[in-house]
Amino acid sequence: MEAKSLSPVTLTQYIVKSQPPHSRGEFTLMMMAIQTAVKVIEKNIRSAGMQGLFGYLSDNHANATGDSQAKLDVIANNAFKSYLMSSTSIAALGSEEEEQMVIVDSDKQGDYLIFFDPLDGSSNIDANVSVGSIWGIWRVPPGTKITSIEQANDFLKTMKGVGIVSAGYAMYGSATNLVLTSGHGVDGFTLDTTIGEFILTHPHISIPRKRRIYSVNEGNYVKWEAWFKEYIEYVKDNKYTARYIGSMVADVHRTLLYGGIFCYPKDAGKIEGKLRFLYEAAPMAMIVEQAGGKAWGETGRILDQGITRLHQRTPVYLGSRQEVDRCLSFKEKSAAKSKL
Ligand code: AHG
Ligand code: MN
Ligand code: MN
Repeated sequence: MEAKSLSPVTLTQYIVKSQPPHSRGEFTLMMMAIQTAVKVIEKNIRSAGMQGLFGYLSDNHANATGDSQAKLDVIANNAFKSYLMSSTSIAALGSEEEEQMVIVDSDKQGDYLIFFDPLDGSSNIDANVSVGSIWGIWRVPPGTKITSIEQANDFLKTMKGVGIVSAGYAMYGSATNLVLTSGHGVDGFTLDTTIGEFILTHPHISIPRKRRIYSVNEGNYVKWEAWFKEYIEYVKDNKYTARYIGSMVADVHRTLLYGGIFCYPKDAGKIEGKLRFLYEAAPMAMIVEQAGGKAWGETGRILDQGITRLHQRTPVYLGSRQEVDRCLSFKEKSAAKSKL
C-alpha cells in the first residue's frame, strides 16, 4: 500500500498560493465562496433522502433552458449564488437556473464574472448516481462596473472562450471530489468529511493518451449525422468499452482519469447540441486541455468559440487527444467526400 503523504495540502492553502499575480485577494475570496457552496451542496445531497429533498418542484417549474427544476437544483443554485454575491469578488454571475445574468450591488462588485451549473446531472439524483457542479471564470477589465442586464449581455458578446481564467467542477460521488485549473495544469482534491476540508489527492492530473472507452448517449443514434454514426460503428467494430453515466461531470471525470472520449454531438432534434457553452462545455474544455487532452466543438476548439448569449449551446467532443482526432477524422472524411 502506498504510504500516506505526511504533508497534506488543503484546498484553502492551495487557493491562497495559486492566486494570480494581478489579483487583490479577490480570486481567493471567490474560490473560498465556491468551496463553501460545494460543501453546502454536498451536505444537502448526502441527506436528501432523509430530508425529502429528492424530486422535482411541485409546480413542475422549468429553468431557463427548458429543463424541469429539481428541488436540489434550486438549493444548489442558492448556495452558489448567496456565497458568491456576498464575496466582493465578482461583478455578475450567470447560472443554468437563472434566466438572465445576476448583477452584484455596485459597492460589492469585484473583477470576475462566473458562470455555473449548480447541479449537473440532476436527472440522475433520485437514483443516487453521481452528480456535480461546474463553473467557469472570466475577468472584467479592472475598474469596470456592470450596471444593467443589457450591459452584461453586451459584455458577454465581447468575451471569448479563450478568455476563461479558471475552471473547476465538484463531483458528489462515492466521495466528493473538487477538480480545478487556473491555467497551470489540473489538480484534484477529495473532501475529508471528518474534518470538513478538501485535501489534494490528485496532483497534476494528466489524461491517459490511449484508452478504448467511448461515452455518448446512443439512444440518439437515429438522429445523428452520418459521419458520427460511422465513428460509433468503428468503435464498436474495434471493441471499445462503452461508459455513459448521463452526468457530464461524472463522464468527464472518468475520461480525465481513465482516458477515452466523451461526446455530446448535435442531432436532428438538437441542432446546436445539448451542453451549454459557458457553464458546461467551456470549463470542461479548459480542464481537459490543461490535462493534455483535446476539446472540440462544431468547427474547432471549444475555447475558440465566441459568445452570443448566456445559455448558448455547443456540440462537445473531448478526451484523449488521439481519440478525439480519430473521431474528427470521420467528419473530415465525410466533408471531403461531399466536396467531390
Ligand atoms: P443538467 O442536469 O445540468 O441539466 O445537465 C444534464 C446534461 C449533462 O450532465 C449530461 O452530460 C447530459 O445532460 C445528459 O443528457 P442526455 O440525458 O440527453 O444523455
Ligand atoms: Mn449540466
Ligand atoms: Mn444543472
